[in-house]
Amino acid sequence: MKFFIDTANLDQIKEAQDLGVLDGVTTNPTLMAKEGITGEANVTAHYLAICDIVDDNVSAEVISTTYDEMIKEGEALAKLNPKIVVKIPMIKDGVKAIKYLTSKGIRTNCTLIFSAGQALLAAKAGASYVSPFLGRLDDIGNDGLNLIEDIRLIFDNYEYPTEILAASIRSPLHIINCAKLGADVITSPLSAIVGLLKHPLTDSGLAQFLADHDKAAKAAL
Ligand code: E4P
Repeated sequence: MKFFIDTANLDQIKEAQDLGVLDGVTTNPTLMAKEGITGEANVTAHYLAICDIVDDNVSAEVISTTYDEMIKEGEALAKLNPKIVVKIPMIKDGVKAIKYLTSKGIRTNCTLIFSAGQALLAAKAGASYVSPFLGRLDDIGNDGLNLIEDIRLIFDNYEYPTEILAASIRSPLHIINCAKLGADVITSPLSAIVGLLKHPLTDSGLAQFLADHDKAAKAAL
């Protein structure tokens, strides 16, 4: 399973990259705004800064919502760096834009997926990734993991090459459950990735090992 980090914060991206487990980054307009990145020149510079840190897979989202504009914006984003994956919203013009960009060899990530039907359409259009938003479904009392399971079944039935990029991850448990269900990728805040490291028995076990080592070393003096 690939690990992407869901942030536009350069320090957090560096920290995840330093951990040695990072395969990519997803951003969205909200995450960019959170870092205070506004204006085309700043946004472009920020995407390039992210591309400098990671090896591949930097999702950059279009702001336009019409076919012509999404294509123009998508092509411009893709030209910035070969690591860029153009993120397109699941709307009618978005499906058409995914079809067009795919035909031009540009990778796409269809975002804001909340149903299996939406994922199927995006896969038919040739999206490289679909991003089902688990946490936001859970927030409204649905089961986001059921959606991952349904999309996995559909994509496997027809051998769609589109990868399932589980998004809106809230916890380490979400990541584990996505892995159990066969999601190809998770995109997560740094906290949930780092949360996978932690177990109280690891901490107490290590403390015991070190204490026993010190005791034996002292006894040998
Ligand atoms: C996906 O690419 C989105 O950026 C993201 O996962 C949304 O997550 P949120 O529901 O925590 O905003």
